[in-house]
Amino acid sequence: MMDKNAKIYVAGHRGMVGSAILRELQRQGYTNIITRTHKELDLTRQDAVEAFFAAEKPEYVFLAAAKVGGIVANNEALADFMYDNMILEMNVIHAAWQNGCKKLEFLGSSCIYPRLAPQPMKEDCLLTSALEKTNEAYALAKISGLKYCEYLNRQYGTDYISVMPTNLYGPNDNYHPTHSHVLPALIRRFHEAKEQNLPYVTCWGDGSPLREFLYVDDLANLCVFLMNNYSGNETVNAGTGKELTIKELTELVAKVIGYTGEIRWDPSKPNGTPRKLLDVSKATALGWTYKTELEDGIRLTYQDFLNNPMRAER
Ligand SMILES: NC(=O)c1ccc[n+]([C@@H]2O[C@H](COP(=O)([O-])OP(=O)(O)OC[C@H]3O[C@@H](n4cnc5c(N)ncnc54)[C@H](OP(=O)(O)O)[C@@H]3O)[C@@H](O)[C@H]2O)c1
Repeated sequence: MMDKNAKIYVAGHRGMVGSAILRELQRQGYTNIITRTHKELDLTRQDAVEAFFAAEKPEYVFLAAAKVGGIVANNEALADFMYDNMILEMNVIHAAWQNGCKKLEFLGSSCIYPRLAPQPMKEDCLLTSALEKTNEAYALAKISGLKYCEYLNRQYGTDYISVMPTNLYGPNDNYHPTHSHVLPALIRRFHEAKEQNLPYVTCWGDGSPLREFLYVDDLANLCVFLMNNYSGNETVNAGTGKELTIKELTELVAKVIGYTGEIRWDPSKPNGTPRKLLDVSKATALGWTYKTELEDGIRLTYQDFLNNPMRAER
């Protein structure tokens, strides 16, 4: 268990996940949390990362910094997604280990699992067949990060763990018009369509893919729970275990936002992986479960979108 005054570094604390972890740690009474913005510390710079860890020597690290993007961004910048993420992870994990960090938690993503993995996806389906091409570079970087944690544990006896969340959403999300994930992208599009009284909104694909969504504050609760209650080389899936089609999701977002126009589909655009559902029985067996139902979470997220106009332009 982390002491309430243990020195904890949250990497990526201004991002959606990192900011939720920060809120959760503060909510639970942790008092000695250190952070650096991207501008203050570029985690892809090895010398800067080493100097930071040597000076601060955090006891615990939540690694929630990453170059993140949706299907378009990933596909357009394969090399950048691989390089930035791989080097950032290696720098942080290596410097943490060299400076005696007791425990590190690495944030990955469910895109590490094979494109056609048996559903729901269990942790042990990792590396059993080919990845989804559109985010292969990102997935390979994330697999390297979690494997590096495992190898440090095996070679040097560290206690470094990883968690693999499903699609996340919530406060501080990225609402970029082309470079965001599906749920924030839908929130922005339906909000704008409502404001501009557009008669219809066209969405990508045919709406058939099945997806799962976890509210980011629930993920943050799991991250702190795992830091205190889990050790092991195998990653832990983070999700709700519930899925819906993109079409159903789209209708739900339109309902929450109050958009009453028509929803059209453009099947010439890619659907992405046909189905992505995590098996969350491992987290459940450890004693954790999600709290926020999707419609409630979308309402909270839309409120955050409305309250933060600058965030919407990120
Ligand atoms: N969002 C999802 O649906 C989702 C789903 C599954 C897993 N995850 C995982 O959760 C983690 C965090 O994702 P997120 O959604 O919170 O992303 P995010 O909102 O984009 O936040 C990422 C954070 O990392 C920082 N960062 C990026 N590059 C950096 C660098 N070179 N040096 C220092 N800081 C840097 C960013 O700072 P700047 O903004 O200033 O660059 C930002 O604060 C990732 O590992 C991701 O794979 C996310």
